[in-house]
Amino acid sequence: MSEQPKKVKTGGLAGITAGKSAICTCGTGHGLNYRGYDIYDLAKNCEFEEVAHLLLIGHLPNKAELKEFKASLMSARHLSPVMRETLKLIPKDAHPMDMMRTGCSMLGCLESEKQELPKHFPDQLRVGIRLLGIFPSILLFWHHWHEDGRELDTSSNQDSIAGYFLEKLHNKEPKKLWVDAMNVSLILYAEHEFNASTFTSRVITATLSDIFSAISGAIGALRGPLHGGANEAAMELISQYKSPDEAETGLRQKLANKELVMGFGHRVYTTHDPRNVVIKEWSKKLAEDVGDSVLFPVSERIEKIMWDEKKLFPNLDFYSASAYHFMGIKTEYFTPIFIMSRITGWLAHIFEQRADNKLIRPSSEYTGPENQAFVPIEKR
Ligand code: COA
Repeated sequence: MSEQPKKVKTGGLAGITAGKSAICTCGTGHGLNYRGYDIYDLAKNCEFEEVAHLLLIGHLPNKAELKEFKASLMSARHLSPVMRETLKLIPKDAHPMDMMRTGCSMLGCLESEKQELPKHFPDQLRVGIRLLGIFPSILLFWHHWHEDGRELDTSSNQDSIAGYFLEKLHNKEPKKLWVDAMNVSLILYAEHEFNASTFTSRVITATLSDIFSAISGAIGALRGPLHGGANEAAMELISQYKSPDEAETGLRQKLANKELVMGFGHRVYTTHDPRNVVIKEWSKKLAEDVGDSVLFPVSERIEKIMWDEKKLFPNLDFYSASAYHFMGIKTEYFTPIFIMSRITGWLAHIFEQRADNKLIRPSSEYTGPENQAFVPIEKR
């Protein structure tokens, strides 16, 4: 075997401005704003569908617009017979993110986007609404098929994605507290500028590819534990410990071993993630609601140690983990829920990229060997 290529430090494009966008500001000194609206105002006052409308259509809806938008999302929940058969074929032990990526890709085969290249995308809003509406159904269909052998009935009077998801997951009218918590969580996860998955969707879009390809790629990027997968990894972390003291001992050991602690730190924030204070409050309310006396205190102790020892703060994923857990959601579904929300940010960026497109194709600094003497294969 020849020697391995040298490891190249790429720096992960940290601090590089990679394009212009009118969708989001975030990072230390900016807080987090969607189209100029402070995330705290949106999380306190809006339904997720209002924020989805803001991201997809460009403005906060009035009552009539919201009603119409919600109706279009409700009618986008249905699953065709072919989609149902496809989901049944995906094994029970597949990762739900792989299943979601496949569901998205399959929908692209069944209901492909009509494009008039290079500049016209008359079908993009239909596709966007269809994806936003169908993702909860895809997850829930696959879940119920493998858990209790039945096909999901997608009809429901719940007019919100949060309510629909919780009703169908638990087969009963969801508690208002849970719907409210899920609603806030979806708002917090909706958009975050040029994060890895969004940037992936823009790179794919910039080749004039279709939305299903861009979203499938984005799901692949989101799956990793350095990005969306961190909420599942955070749950695995906190559920290891039976008490705050045990968590403290375990955490100190992890830090001594120089292990990454999932759910902490962020590329664009240096002192705190503005979304954390909101989701932490909801996680606390949900903990009280279910009578938890372990997970929330364990989480708070981990937060304290991480700050005292490393000056690292929890990102959105850390308290989202316990919040979802308290609502009876399986850990493997945490990142798929992230898709159900972030699809709105991805779509906003795909539409924006298309409106003023330029192929995204950076250069690299070459660090490999030069002027190599060529040796024919029989002499190597
Ligand atoms: N646990 C332990 N140490 C951490 C850490 C964490 N969660 N996050 C950062 N650090 C340390 C790094 O090891 C590094 O230490 P070093 O300088 O001694 O090598 C330093 O802090 C800087 O981190 P770096 O990895 O260079 O920052 P980044 O901007 O490249 O990474 C993340 C940002 C989010 C990828 C990183 O914080 C991380 O891996 N977090 C855990 C995964 C996670 O929660 N992801 C979801 C993000 S929303």
